Amino acid sequence: MSKIFLIGMMGSGKTTLAKMISKILSIPYIDTDEEIEKSHHMEIKEIFEKKGEIYFRKLENQILESLLKRREDLVVSTGGGIILNPKNRELLKNQKTIYLKVDPIELKNRVSVENRPLLLNNKEKILEIYNQRKELYEIFETVDITSLNEWEATAKILYTLNIYEKLEIDSSFQKVRIQMGALKLVPKEWIIFTNEKVNSLYGNFFSNKKFIFPNGERVKDISYVSKAYEQLLENNVSRKDFLCGIGGGTITDFTGFVASTYKRGMNFTFYPTTLLAQIDASIGGKNGIDFKKYKNVVGTINLPNEVIIDPLSLLSLDEEIYREGLIEGYKMALIAGRDFYSFFKENLNELLNRNLEKLSNFIKWAVEEKIRIVQEDFRDIGSRSFLNLGHTLGHAFEASTGIAHGLSVGWGLLKELELFKKYNLTDEKCYQEIKNTLEYLVSENIRNIEINKEELFYYLINDKKAENSKKIKIPILKSPGNVTLEEIEYSVLKNSL
Ligand SMILES: NC(=O)c1ccc[n+]([C@@H]2O[C@H](COP(=O)([O-])OP(=O)(O)OC[C@H]3O[C@@H](n4cnc5c(N)ncnc54)[C@H](O)[C@@H]3O)[C@@H](O)[C@H]2O)c1
Repeated sequence: MSKIFLIGMMGSGKTTLAKMISKILSIPYIDTDEEIEKSHHMEIKEIFEKKGEIYFRKLENQILESLLKRREDLVVSTGGGIILNPKNRELLKNQKTIYLKVDPIELKNRVSVENRPLLLNNKEKILEIYNQRKELYEIFETVDITSLNEWEATAKILYTLNIYEKLEIDSSFQKVRIQMGALKLVPKEWIIFTNEKVNSLYGNFFSNKKFIFPNGERVKDISYVSKAYEQLLENNVSRKDFLCGIGGGTITDFTGFVASTYKRGMNFTFYPTTLLAQIDASIGGKNGIDFKKYKNVVGTINLPNEVIIDPLSLLSLDEEIYREGLIEGYKMALIAGRDFYSFFKENLNELLNRNLEKLSNFIKWAVEEKIRIVQEDFRDIGSRSFLNLGHTLGHAFEASTGIAHGLSVGWGLLKELELFKKYNLTDEKCYQEIKNTLEYLVSENIRNIEINKEELFYYLINDKKAENSKKIKIPILKSPGNVTLEEIEYSVLKNSL
């Protein structure tokens, strides 16, 4: 890598984004304005008032020159006017410099006049400044981040860095590979199924023949399966062609189902783009769709030709969706124990900051653990049920409250753990440690939600796994790495709520 310079108008988010990128890439972050303020013990506004703009621009140039002499990789957030000085433009042209373009009307809404001497307490002034500087900015590589949230903007920036690092997955059972930037390398001849959201973020990377479906669980419906068959037939798609699902678990499940049934099974691959899809839904060969009110009740068990995981795509996930994947991954770390469990504990902060190196390693651990479990019980008649840890109460909570699946599993893990501790199945130290981690992952609002115990119990006994009316088989966590499947009376579960 090299030094990354973010340039752009005031209010475009350079500082926030540079800080995020610094954590994502584990490289130091520098803000040229902050450096100037520190060296002069004055705010920018005061320097402008006391010393004038020419003096300030000189300082900016000195800082830039000194940063370029530094040997290490850096991400630098620059002052909005840094490109006014031709010397600075020359220096920046030889660096990885990215202009963060934001529509001026959005800029005006975002910017605050505080410590912005050039605005003279008048937000309208920003439109004038924008027009004066526009051409100077646009000589640099431009990333338009208008109407994107911070995570979506970081994803867009990071994809310009051309990072293509790989990490091998150790498995002869299912072909999976982790490759940064893989979304930019999808073979052109593959036919793509994706959804609106993923297409809006990454569709420009794949100009293939593609079919775009609605976002979320809605796509896992027989009516969309029927539409998909029609589209494949109309386009003369044969069994030998490759159908490629690019999206979250809903798209990979849907694509896997369509591909496994169309013409009695065609080639298919996945590019999962949520954390949950990368470590869970795309692994193990289950391709379910929903029918009436039943989730995943129709489906196939059939492995894709390959799963290609691009960790960069996770940067654009909404916080909640990202955490859902982390919680499912934590569950796998609890089942695996040992090194995976320790890794998760030690790197939780970096994982929350989406540090790419840690995230890639986390994905590798989780995928290998899921493959290990699936391999022992591909048809799901025995030990694959370990994966239901936290899901018995989690599913009931999800059905009763409508809270997202992964977060409900987090709640379920906490509640099940309390129960295991009450019956001395899990020791106190282990309980405390896991509880602390889960409290970090599952927000207080969700943990303290008022539940309707009767309703929750109703969903519990109506869960598709409830085959015996008095007892239920659930995975019990004795300690990380030590999970057993045991039968528990419903009444015991009810009392734990
Ligand atoms: N087959 C299996 O073994 C298995 C295992 C677990 C879950 N699942 C299934 O997975 C589904 C849930 O998957 P999910 O949590 O990925 O939900 P999802 O597919 O609905 O994705 C969640 C949201 O994130 C958006 N999104 C996807 N990628 C994005 C990206 N890179 N940046 C920003 N937004 C992005 C999607 O458009 C969607 O709105 C459920 O249907 C569940 O049944 C299957």
